[in-house]
Amino acid sequence: MKYQLLQCVVTLFMVTTFTFTSGRSVRGSTGVCNPSDLEGLMGFKNGIRMDTSGRLATWVGQNCCQWEGIVCENVTSRVTEINLPGFISKDDDLSQTQMKGLLSSSITLVTSLEVLDLGGLAGLSGEIPQTVGMHLQNLQKLHLFGNNLTGPVPESIGGLSNLQELALHENALSGSIPSSLGSLKNLKRLLLYTNHFSGIVPDSLGNLISLEELDVHGNSLTGHIPDGIGQMQALKKLDLSDNLLSGKIPTSLANLTAISVLYLDTNLLEGNIPFPSRSGEMPSLEFLRLHSNHLNGNIPSSFGYLVSLQRVSLSNNKLEGELPSSLGNLQSLSELYLSDNFLSGQIPKSVGQLSKLIMFNISNNLIEGPLPQEMSSLQNVQTLDLSFNYLNLSSIPEWLANLPSISRIYLAGSGIKGPIPDFLQTAGSPIQELDLSMNDLSGVIPSWIGKLDQLYLLNLSRNSLDSNIPDSISNLNNLGVLDLHSNKLTGSMNRVFGTDQGVSGGSLTYIDLSDNNFSSGVEEIGVGGQREIQFLNLSHNILRGELPSSIGSLKSIQSLDLSFNDLASNLPEILANLTSLVRLKLQKNHFTGNIPSGFLKLRNLKELNLSDNSLEGEIPEGKPLIDFPETSYSGNKGLCGKPLVPCKT
Ligand SMILES: *[C@@H]1O[C@H](CO)[C@@H](O)[C@H](O)[C@H]1NC(C)=O
Ligand SMILES: *[C@@H]1O[C@H](CO)[C@@H](O)[C@H](O)[C@H]1NC(C)=O
Ligand SMILES: *[C@@H]1O[C@H](CO)[C@@H](O)[C@H](O)[C@H]1NC(C)=O
Ligand SMILES: *[C@@H]1O[C@H](CO)[C@@H](O)[C@H](O)[C@H]1NC(C)=O
Ligand SMILES: *[C@@H]1O[C@H](CO)[C@@H](O)[C@H](O)[C@H]1NC(C)=O
Ligand SMILES: *[C@@H]1O[C@H](CO)[C@@H](O)[C@H](O)[C@H]1NC(C)=O
Ligand SMILES: *[C@@H]1O[C@H](CO)[C@@H](O)[C@H](O)[C@H]1NC(C)=O
Ligand SMILES: *[C@@H]1O[C@H](CO)[C@@H](O)[C@H](O)[C@H]1NC(C)=O
Ligand SMILES: *[C@@H]1O[C@H](CO)[C@@H](O)[C@H](O)[C@H]1NC(C)=O
Ligand SMILES: *[C@@H]1O[C@H](CO)[C@@H](O)[C@H](O)[C@H]1NC(C)=O
Repeated sequence: MKYQLLQCVVTLFMVTTFTFTSGRSVRGSTGVCNPSDLEGLMGFKNGIRMDTSGRLATWVGQNCCQWEGIVCENVTSRVTEINLPGFISKDDDLSQTQMKGLLSSSITLVTSLEVLDLGGLAGLSGEIPQTVGMHLQNLQKLHLFGNNLTGPVPESIGGLSNLQELALHENALSGSIPSSLGSLKNLKRLLLYTNHFSGIVPDSLGNLISLEELDVHGNSLTGHIPDGIGQMQALKKLDLSDNLLSGKIPTSLANLTAISVLYLDTNLLEGNIPFPSRSGEMPSLEFLRLHSNHLNGNIPSSFGYLVSLQRVSLSNNKLEGELPSSLGNLQSLSELYLSDNFLSGQIPKSVGQLSKLIMFNISNNLIEGPLPQEMSSLQNVQTLDLSFNYLNLSSIPEWLANLPSISRIYLAGSGIKGPIPDFLQTAGSPIQELDLSMNDLSGVIPSWIGKLDQLYLLNLSRNSLDSNIPDSISNLNNLGVLDLHSNKLTGSMNRVFGTDQGVSGGSLTYIDLSDNNFSSGVEEIGVGGQREIQFLNLSHNILRGELPSSIGSLKSIQSLDLSFNDLASNLPEILANLTSLVRLKLQKNHFTGNIPSGFLKLRNLKELNLSDNSLEGEIPEGKPLIDFPETSYSGNKGLCGKPLVPCKT
């Protein structure tokens, strides 16, 4: 999350710097402008249907050098810059403007152009002119990102030998990446991300020895990562993520001495992690993402040479073997994601040296216990997810709860036995998320739980807890997610829905109390006006009583499961007001009466089960009710009509 925020700030920063440079409106000579430039600019203007910035309205007469967004060369009066970015900054205000229409190919008549900035105009459509590379030989900066451009990047682009920045990202461009791009010896930034490009990454890109940033993420590129990329000595950022690249990661990448950001995640890459091979390689690498590939083999012990690493994600691969103890050398590491692999052995003691570590997620591996005591020196760790390994902890180590910054503890499926330990109530820092699901916890949900006033998520599902829900739970004003399913809990659920004393603030969005022995509290559903609840599962309890009309206040509910209980009442008409419902399961109860005709308003419903109740009368005819199978209605006393047998008249 932090990281996204940072990216956002960085992007904003880049946008601002672009605008400060391109927003400057240096006016050249007052002379009448070159006829070819004039024709080109008028042709461009004629392609535009709408310009919310009003800049094109100043494009009248012959003195094009005076127009907004135009810069001319003083002596020749040739147009050298067209600066019409979508983001405009005025008095520190950054606003987005729109330009709708077609990008006219007459722009290629403006042959002295050095800067063409039409980035972020949102509605600009059409294709990149075929001949752009033949006519705009002086072009240094071509910004057409954030528009609605389609079609291919013309092969002629390789003729723009002075080009330094090519930013075509966030359009709907297609076809393959032209190999002619490899001749742009001065190129520093090549941004093609979030388009529909297919085909291979051309090997010729390796010739771009000045390139500092190559970003083609979010396309449909196939084939291997070309070996030649290892020659790009100036490269600082390489992002090939979210494509369909396969094969091995070339060993030549270890030659990228300037690289600081390397994202190859979300592809079909296989084989080993081939870098670094020795100390001193990739000395600047800070951000490494290789997650969601098919990488196998060990995490190389040489990984410890990548001393600048700050964020590393290797999750969702097929990595195996033990964590190298050299990991402890990564003194700058703040986030380490290793989940969903086949990593085994114990967590090395050296992990305790990662003093800057904030997030450590190694869930879903084959890691064995015990946890090294050395981990107790992780002063900055906020999130620890060790769920679903072979830890066999028996009990939660007390030092873990005492970590000074810990706020999210995930120890699902860790072999923890016995009562929930009291020391959790005085954890090192306020607990926000606690997941102890799928363990062997027994005894009570302690009433001190109500003191964890920052608690947002509590997952104690799939244990053997056998108490009531303590009254104090209603003090948890920040609780959003409560999952207590599959325990042996008894009594009333009313504190969860509560009256004025119920979990107030209305922040709960997810409640799963299913598969317990709760017997009452149904009458309180919605009484607290819980408009935020999206998911409510109370199935497989022994709930009795009637559905209250207050259930109508669950305005956001998408999934409601009350099946396998002993509820007995008519189906309240008010259920038809819950139009966000996607799933409604009421089977195996004792509901009586008709299906209200208002159910025809539940247009989002994808799953309905009313079977095994005592409903009668005609199923209201129409969508969506008619689309469900017979088993949605079977086992009732007297339901008839489609999809069941016709009613007798
Ligand atoms: C062109 O004019 C601008 C603004 O009047 C000035 O800053 C710049 O130095 C001039 N360039 C040349 C080459 O005369
Ligand atoms: C982008 O183009 C498509 C058709 O090519 C059109 O439907 C859509 O409205 C356009 N988007 C904008 C923002 O102009
Ligand atoms: C990488 O560097 C090594 C040694 O510095 C060199 O032998 C190899 O050819 C280089 N590979 C590429 C693809 O540049
Ligand atoms: C850990 O990673 C897994 C798999 O990527 C993810 O589902 C889980 O939410 C992560 N844990 C935390 C606490 O973010
Ligand atoms: C788990 O730990 C307990 C005691 O700490 C031990 O008796 C048991 O054999 C362990 N189970 C496994 C599968 O290692
Ligand atoms: C709670 O934990 C269980 C078992 O680990 C899991 O299946 C469930 O999705 C979790 N609930 C929530 C709301 O995350
Ligand atoms: C629920 O309560 C019934 C009797 O009230 C008992 O037979 C059953 O074992 C209990 N189930 C659980 C899961 O505790
Ligand atoms: C509700 O809980 C039961 C038992 O835990 C489960 O079988 C069912 O799939 C859940 N319903 C929904 C809609 O998730
Ligand atoms: C339910 O919807 C009907 C109209 O569809 C409306 O008249 C009624 O006020 C709604 N009830 C509540 C409690 O929102
Ligand atoms: C409805 O619930 C019954 C009983 O659990 C089940 O047999 C049937 O398959 C379900 N039908 C649908 C459509 O979910």
